[in-house]
Amino acid sequence: MILIPAAVLLYIFSFASGSSGSGLSKLSSRQENCPDYRTYAARPHPPYTSGQYELPFQRPVAECRLFQSQAVDDMIQEMVGKIADPDLARLFENAYPNTLDTTVRWHVSGGARDAQSFIVTGDINAQWLRDSTNQLSQYQRLVKDDPKLKELMLGAINTQVDYVLTSPYCNAFQPPAKSRLEPTNNGQEDSVHPLYDPTLVFECKYEIDSLANFLSLANQYHAHSSDTSFLTPRFLSAVETVLAVIEQQQTGTFTAIGAPSDMVYTFQRRTNSGTETLNLGGIGNPLASNTSLVRSAFRPSDDATILQFFIPGNAMLAVELKRIATLLKSAGHTTLSTVCQQQGLAIEAAVNKYGIITHPVYGKVYAYEVDGYGSHIIMDDANLPSLLSLPLLGFVDVNDPVYQNTRKMILSQKGNPYFLKGKHGEGVGGPHIGIRNAWPMSLLVQIMTSKDDEEIKGLLKMSVNVDRLSQYTRSWFAWANAVFAQTVFDLAERKPHLILKTGST
Ligand SMILES: *[C@@H]1O[C@H](CO)[C@@H](O)[C@H](O)[C@H]1NC(C)=O
Repeated sequence: MILIPAAVLLYIFSFASGSSGSGLSKLSSRQENCPDYRTYAARPHPPYTSGQYELPFQRPVAECRLFQSQAVDDMIQEMVGKIADPDLARLFENAYPNTLDTTVRWHVSGGARDAQSFIVTGDINAQWLRDSTNQLSQYQRLVKDDPKLKELMLGAINTQVDYVLTSPYCNAFQPPAKSRLEPTNNGQEDSVHPLYDPTLVFECKYEIDSLANFLSLANQYHAHSSDTSFLTPRFLSAVETVLAVIEQQQTGTFTAIGAPSDMVYTFQRRTNSGTETLNLGGIGNPLASNTSLVRSAFRPSDDATILQFFIPGNAMLAVELKRIATLLKSAGHTTLSTVCQQQGLAIEAAVNKYGIITHPVYGKVYAYEVDGYGSHIIMDDANLPSLLSLPLLGFVDVNDPVYQNTRKMILSQKGNPYFLKGKHGEGVGGPHIGIRNAWPMSLLVQIMTSKDDEEIKGLLKMSVNVDRLSQYTRSWFAWANAVFAQTVFDLAERKPHLILKTGST
C-alpha cells in the first residue's frame, strides 16, 4: 500500500516576482459568478476520499470549468477505477484536468488557420511559453480521440506562433487582442532591449527553454496526431525566427579583436534581488565565443543565470531542433529542416564538449551552467528543463554513466546546494523560493527517472515543505499539476504494480 501526502501538489509555490493579476475577464456571464480558483483551491471541498488522508475534491463545479473534454473525463474515470490507493486516485482526478478546468481563459476553434488558445499559468493571468506547452502535454495522448482537444492544440500552436513572431526574446505574454481580455501590468520597472509592447508582453525575460518549448508543443502534437496542418507560412516563419535568435545568441561577449560584441538582448530591473536582473549593464557575465552553445539570460525558474550557457536548456533545444528537422523534412521543407538539424547537432556536441566536467567526488558530470571559458556552476533547480530531467527530455539515456553520476550528485546534499532536507522531507528546490522549499516537480521527475521500486515508493510518500507539513506557497499552479498527471501515466505504464489494482493494466 502506498501512502500519499495530504493534498500535495494542489498547493504549491508562489512566484516571488510579478503581480498575480486576478482579473477574471470576459468569461461567459455564467462563469463570472464562479469563485476565483486561487481561493477555491486553497480550501478543501467534499466529497473526501476514504483513504488515509481523506483528500478533498478540488475540481471546480461543472459550470465553472473553462474547457470540457469527454476524452479527458473518460480517462479520469478509467484511471480512478484502476488506481489502488484512493488518495492517489483523487490527486490524479484533481490534477489531470486542472489546466482545462481552470486555465483555458480563451479559445476559438478554426483549424490550423484560425484556432487560438490562451492558456494562463494559473494564479497569474498571463501565458508562459514553457508552462503552456507543459500544461497541455498530458492531453496530447488523447488528441486522436477528441476533435475538440485537437482544436485546442492547434489553437495553442497558433497563439504561440503569434507570440514568437511578436517578441521572440520574451517569456510570458498577454491575452491576444481578439480575446478582448484585459492585459495585466507585471508591476516591474524593467529596461529591456529589444523593446517590446507591454500590452502584448507580460514579461520579457529571455530564456532559451521558452523557444525550445515552442518547438516541443508542435513536436508533441505531431507525434500524437500525425497532423501537419499547422505547418502554415506563419509557423515556418516562427521557426526561422527561433533560428535567428539562436544564431544571435551564439555570439560570445567579445569579438575576435577583443571588442564588446552586440549581445542583442539586455535586461535590467529595479530590484533588491540579485536573481532578478543582469549585471554588466544588462548583458550578464562574459561568455566565450564560437562554442555553438546558446546564451540564456534567465532560467526556467525565471531567475537570472549565473553563467549564461544554461546546459539543460541547450540540451532540450538540441533535441527539439532535431525533432522539428525530421518533421519538416517529411513535409518537404528541406532547407529549413537542414538548418534545424545542423544547429541541433552543433548544440548537442557543444553540450557534451563544454557541459561535462570532471567533479572531484562524482567524476564526469553535467554542469548546470558554464561560460565556455571553463567555469561552471554545479547545482540543479527543480524547474524543467533541469539536469535531473535530461533523459525525459530525450537528450541522454537514463543508464548513461555521466547522467547517473550527475543524478547521484543532484540528489545529495553534499553534491547539490539546492537539494533541501528537513524533518519531513527532501528534494530539489531552487533559489526562486529560497532554501527551505523543495518543489514537488523535482520529486516527480525523480520518480520518472528511477527504475528502483523502493525509491519510487519513498518519493510517493514524501511531503513538500521540508520542515513543516502542509505549508505550501502556491494554491494554483497548473504546470505542477500537469507533471503530476504525467508521472501517474508514467508509473501506470512502467511500474503498474506500484500504483494499480492487481490485474488492471
Ligand atoms: C569565430 O569563428 C569565426 C569563423 O571561424 C571567425 O571568423 C571569428 O573571428 C571567430 N570569433 C571569435 C571571437 O574568435
